[in-house]
This record gives sequence, C-alpha cells and structure tokens, in this order.
Amino acid sequence: MIEDIIKISKEAGELIRNAFGKAHSIEFKTNELNLVTETDKASEKLITDFIRKKYPAHGILAEEGSEANKSAEYLWVVDPLDGTTNFAHGLPIFSVSIGVQKNGEAIAGVVYDVMRDVVFSAEKNSGSFENGRRISVNKNSNLNHSVLVTGFPYDIKENPDNAFERFIAFLKQARAIRRLGSAAIDFCYVANGVFDGFWEVSLHPWDICAGKLIVEEAGGLFTDFGGNKIDINSKRILATNGVIHQKMIDVMKSI
Ligand code: IPD
Ligand code: CA
Ligand code: CA
Repeated sequence: MIEDIIKISKEAGELIRNAFGKAHSIEFKTNELNLVTETDKASEKLITDFIRKKYPAHGILAEEGSEANKSAEYLWVVDPLDGTTNFAHGLPIFSVSIGVQKNGEAIAGVVYDVMRDVVFSAEKNSGSFENGRRISVNKNSNLNHSVLVTGFPYDIKENPDNAFERFIAFLKQARAIRRLGSAAIDFCYVANGVFDGFWEVSLHPWDICAGKLIVEEAGGLFTDFGGNKIDINSKRILATNGVIHQKMIDVMKSI
C-alpha cells in the first residue's frame, strides 16, 4: 500500500506544481484567513478517485469534504494541499499529506514536499524515510540550542487559546523559531532532525495523520501539551525529538 500512497501523492504534487504561480480562484472557508483554491479541490479529487477505484472498501476522510465509509477497517486521511496560504501567495512551501489507519491506528503515512520533490514516508514498525533514506530525530537536549517550529490557527483572532503567550515564551528560550505554513512539512523536519520541536493548537486529522506516524517512526514523541498520548482528533499538538519534550511542556506550564 505504501507504494500506492507515494505514487498518488506524487501525482497530486505534480498537479499542484503545474498550477503553482498561476492565477487562482480563492474562496474563504470559515473566515478570510482560511483559504481554499481550485487546486486543493482538484488534488483531492485525483487522490480520492484513486482510492475509490483501487480500494473501494476503504474509508476516506479528506479536508475539502470527500468522505466515504468512515467506519471501514481502513481509513485514508487526506490533506490534498497542506500550506494553501503559501501556495496561493506564491511561496513554494506546501505538501500533500496522506495517512492510512487500520482500525483507528496509523499504519502508513506519506508527506510529499511538492516543490522540493521530496517524499517522506513511514510504515508502522518499519521506520521513517526521506526519499528512501532512513531518517531519525536529532538528539539535542538543550532548549536554548533548539530550533522550534509552530503554526497559527485560522481562528487566531477569536480563539482564547490564541498561541501568543506560548510563542513569546519559546522565543525567549529557543535559538530560533520558524513558521513554515505547512504543518505536515513541519512534522517531517522534526522527524529528520532539522527541527527539535513543534507545537500548535487547533490542528485537524488530515494535518496530523501522516506526520504523527513519520515523527514516531523516526524516534520522536507526539503528544498533547501535557505529554498525554493523543489521536488524530486531538487539537493541541506537541511533537519533538523526545529529549526536549518535557522541557517544552515545562515552558508551556509556566505560562
Ligand atoms: C494549515 C497549515 C498551517 C497550519 C494550519 C493548517 P492548510 O493547513 O498546515 O501550517 O498552521 O493550522 O490548517 O489549511 O494549508 O491545509
Ligand atoms: Ca492542512
Ligand atoms: Ca489543506
């Protein structure tokens, strides 16, 4: 199945690459920060048509509304374009993210970094890979030497869990903080050791499903802000190399 997930992720990526830099029809979803373009929808259609044809008994949960048989043994959780704001504004950082669960547990995940043509993949108990090369989280235990990454939710202007205090607290601790605009790519950069840790509030199953497996199979930790085990429906996500996990929890608790 992993070969199929990689194949369809790359095909969707090619569709996105061909549309990049051209004019887009932009619609707002929940508010004016939350965009969707015709390319998000076209990518989702390509991916879900493939699943329906090749795996008709499998379930589908996809960001732009495609759903099928969500209680099936196998469930494909699809973000057809993660990083839509970057895509729509001409910033070449975005991905396709596809995770597959069996009876509620992720068994395979792929994040395709479209413009760099890099495939991140993982299968349960088989490790994580970047273009076929095994990857692992870094071993940095010093928060002062860490480079962290985060994202901001689309409801940031109304959400009381508004992320500002945490952002300031980590700015004062870390060597640097980045905000790339594609949570799925952020997770992969934790998995391959580029970043030491990631946190964000208000994520969705399609942002998380593939990236969680890729981080965990690379030796990292993926929990809520209290260090508790989570599933893909959890909102507050802390993903780290494992070694600085408790230190990041302590910073958040100190706020
Ligand atoms: C968004 C990106 C972004 C994150 C947002 C996500 P989208 O996904 O992953 O980095 O900060 O929370 O919703 O809307 O581009 O698929
Ligand atoms: Ca997303
Ligand atoms: Ca998306």
